[in-house]
Amino acid sequence: MASSHGAAHQVLVASNRGPVSYALQQDGSLAAKRGGGGLVSGLSAIGPDAGALWVCSALSDGDREAVRRGEGESGVRMLDVPADVHADAYNGIANSVLWFVHHMLYQTPLEPVFDAEFRRQWASYETYNRAFAEALAEEAAEGAAVLVQDYHLCLVPGMLRELRPDLRIAHFSHTPWAPVEYFRMLPDDIAEQLLRGMLGADRLGFLTRRWAEAFTACTALVGGLGDTRVGVHGLGADADFLRRRSREADVDERMAALREQIGAGRKAIVRVDRTELSKNIVRGLLAYRQLLEDHPEWHERVVHVAFAYPSRQDLAVYRDYTAEVQRVADEINSRYGTPGWTPVVLHVQDDFARSLAAYRLADVALVNPIRDGMNLVAKEVPVVSDEGCVLVLSREAGAHEELGEDAVTVNPYDVIGTARALHTALTMPAGEGAERSKRLAASATALPPAQWFLDQLNALLDRPS
Ligand code: G6P
Repeated sequence: MASSHGAAHQVLVASNRGPVSYALQQDGSLAAKRGGGGLVSGLSAIGPDAGALWVCSALSDGDREAVRRGEGESGVRMLDVPADVHADAYNGIANSVLWFVHHMLYQTPLEPVFDAEFRRQWASYETYNRAFAEALAEEAAEGAAVLVQDYHLCLVPGMLRELRPDLRIAHFSHTPWAPVEYFRMLPDDIAEQLLRGMLGADRLGFLTRRWAEAFTACTALVGGLGDTRVGVHGLGADADFLRRRSREADVDERMAALREQIGAGRKAIVRVDRTELSKNIVRGLLAYRQLLEDHPEWHERVVHVAFAYPSRQDLAVYRDYTAEVQRVADEINSRYGTPGWTPVVLHVQDDFARSLAAYRLADVALVNPIRDGMNLVAKEVPVVSDEGCVLVLSREAGAHEELGEDAVTVNPYDVIGTARALHTALTMPAGEGAERSKRLAASATALPPAQWFLDQLNALLDRPS
C-alpha cells in the first residue's frame, strides 16, 4: 500500500489514537483493524480523494512494525515515538494529570503532587507534541487545514504555528474543561504553556458551551483569547450506522444470549462504559443496591446489565477501579441473588455487538458520570433501542445540555437520589417512556459525525456550512 509520507495534504487530522491499528499475524503479515468512533466516521466524509491525512501514534507492536516496514493505509501516518517518551506523555501527563484535571478526579490529601517526576514526564509530553508538530509541518500543503484532537496534543497548535504560519489550525477538546479554580492547581508555568499552546490555533472547539466557557475563563491567566475563536460542536450519534449495525446477525445472537442471562419478564437496567474513574460505575452499582434495599418488590424482577470494558490498564488506579467494580458487583450478587436470579450481570470483555444487543433490550439506560465531555452512550441507546428506553442521565455529562429535558436527571454523587431515579425510570408509564425515547433519539442525532467534522472544517476555512 502506498505511504503518504512526503505528500502535500490539504486537510490533516492529528490524534493520539488513530483510525486503524495493526496486529502482527503468525505468518508475519499485518492485519489492519479499523477503529470505531465519531472522528473516524467523520473523517470518512471527507473521502480519500480529498487529500486528507491522519497523523496518529503507533500504539501496538503491529503498528510499530507497520511503520518499520513502511506499510500501512494511505491517508494515515503513524508516528513511532520512543516507547518511554510515549508512556510518559500518554500515561503520565495526558491520562494521569490532564484527564484528572478536566474531570476533577484528584483526591486530597495525596493528589496532586507536581514533583520532579512530573517535570520529567512533562518534558516527554513536549517531545511527543513536537513530534506531531514536525510531522504535520512536513506533510501539510501551503495554507492547509490542520485539525488537532484532544488533551494529548495541547501544545501542537502553538508549535505548528511557529513552524508553519501559513496553516489554518484548529484544536478540538473531547473532554470537559476544568473550572479555572481547579485548572490553577497546575504549576503556573505549565498552565500557561498549555493555554498558549492551544491559543496557537485559529479555532478551538468544545463539545458544549459549558466547557467552552470554562476554557475561556482560564485564558484570563494569559491575558485572554487574543485572535483565537471558540466554537461549540456537539458531536451526535451516527444514526444510519447504528441502526444498520445493530440489526446484523451477530447482534441478534448476542441478544438471545443476554435474554437468557436476564431471564424472561425481567426489566434490564443497562450501562456500557470503559472502566473509567469518571464514569462512576461503582456509585451506579451502589445505587442499584440501594434500589433493591428500598424496593424489595424489584427482587427477581430487574437485572443490572453492566458492561465495563478495560481501559488504560497500565495505570494502577484504573486496575484498582476495575477490581472494585468487580468486587461490588459480586457483593450485590451474593447478598441478593437467588438460584434463578443474578441481580448484576457484569461483562468486562469488550464486545461491540454485545453492547448493541444490550442497547436494544434496555428498559433503562444508566449514564451517571461524575464528569464527561459528552457521553455518546447516552445518545446511542435511544437510537438503537427496540421499544424505547428511559435514560437516567448525570447532569455532569455534556450530553445533558442536549438531552436533559427528556431524561431522568441525577446528581452523580447522590447514591440515594440515583436509586430513586432508577425506580422512577422503571415505573414510568410505557407511553411516556416511548415518547421521551423518540425525542431523545431525535436530539441525539441532530449533528451526525460527518456533519460535525465538516462544520469544523468549514468554520476553520471561513466557508459557509
Ligand atoms: C476519551 C478521549 C479520547 C480517547 C478515549 C479512549 O474519550 O477523549 O481521546 O481516545 O477517551 O481513551 P484511550 O486512552 O483508550 O485512547
